Amino acid sequence: MSHETPGQDRPLTTALAEAAATAGYAPSVHNTQPWRWLVLPDALELRIVRDRQLTATDPEGRLLAISCGAALHHARLALAAEGWTAVVERLPDPAQPDLLARLIGLNRSGADTDAMRMVQCMQVRHTDRRPVSDEPVPTAAIGEISRAVAAEGASLQILDSDQVMELAAAASHAGTVEAEDPQLREELQYWTSRAGGTGLPPEVLPEQQPQTTVPGRDFGRAGTLPIGPGHDKAAVYGLLNGDEDEPDSWLRAGEALSALWLTATRLGVSVVPLSGVVEVPGTRQTLRRLLSGLGFPYLVVRLGIADPAHAGPPHTPRLPIEQVVDTSAVRDQRS
Ligand SMILES: Cc1cc2nc3c(=O)[nH]c(=O)nc-3n(C[C@H](O)[C@H](O)[C@H](O)COP(=O)(O)O)c2cc1C
Repeated sequence: MSHETPGQDRPLTTALAEAAATAGYAPSVHNTQPWRWLVLPDALELRIVRDRQLTATDPEGRLLAISCGAALHHARLALAAEGWTAVVERLPDPAQPDLLARLIGLNRSGADTDAMRMVQCMQVRHTDRRPVSDEPVPTAAIGEISRAVAAEGASLQILDSDQVMELAAAASHAGTVEAEDPQLREELQYWTSRAGGTGLPPEVLPEQQPQTTVPGRDFGRAGTLPIGPGHDKAAVYGLLNGDEDEPDSWLRAGEALSALWLTATRLGVSVVPLSGVVEVPGTRQTLRRLLSGLGFPYLVVRLGIADPAHAGPPHTPRLPIEQVVDTSAVRDQRS
């Protein structure tokens, strides 16, 4: 659906800068926000910030690229909501592997009302690590979420109960492996004790490990998020996967994760990513087996209906916009 909006007469560079700023709402592993946007007169570039890569936990940059892909999808939607269509070039220059994407060919169209709705969802979407309620996730919602993933070129495999048991064992093993590795512990400690707009503050971390079928990440420290006695028996686990295990497909997986999570938010479904099982090579192999070797695992997600009776965690902080959006190349052109 499309229609005219008051934003239609604003210059392109303003729309690009605003889309990049809106992309800051995107989820990222440990809230690292490992991206930087460059606004050009007729294009928007997305680059990796290597300083915020989890070099011990994510040496290949899989979760980094997934995080950046989520931001890319947010930016695409923000532009569509403002009435701009764009062509996306992914990894456009082999000589610059940190240049992940370039949005070019920007043209005016009617503002996309579906995209406008998704932009609203960006502002409320968040990670709620409490156990989910006993209310089942509607089958229709799972179907809609899976279609949103497929539209971005990835797949969501919903795990059956035997597979959930295998996942639970793998997640427990991954947690033990990670807890025994001093470098991983140090990295986690760093990102759970940050100030200044990145990392995970105590308010979003459980005050005790929740009762879940599949263990969530052990953050190595107790937070202050109250956890009720519930057990998330009604949770559904999905495995985001695709055909390749390369930076281009990780970027697309991130776009699919954003589509998954925003669609879930619109439908009242809570999402928690579980990446420990992907970080540890042995448990990543277990996930490959769950896919019958027919795809590569990118991320596990827990889907459920959040406890409506108690307030969830607050929003996790974000970096100031000036630190993630570079408008120096167009400073004179913006209104
Ligand atoms: C690639 C990726 C991996 C993540 N892995 C985990 C995880 O293993 N456990 C967890 O509790 N949250 C995980 N998250 C959620 C992030 O911690 C969360 O998105 C970030 O802190 C920002 O908070 P928000 O989602 O509330 O905006 C992951 C997010 C992404 C994008």
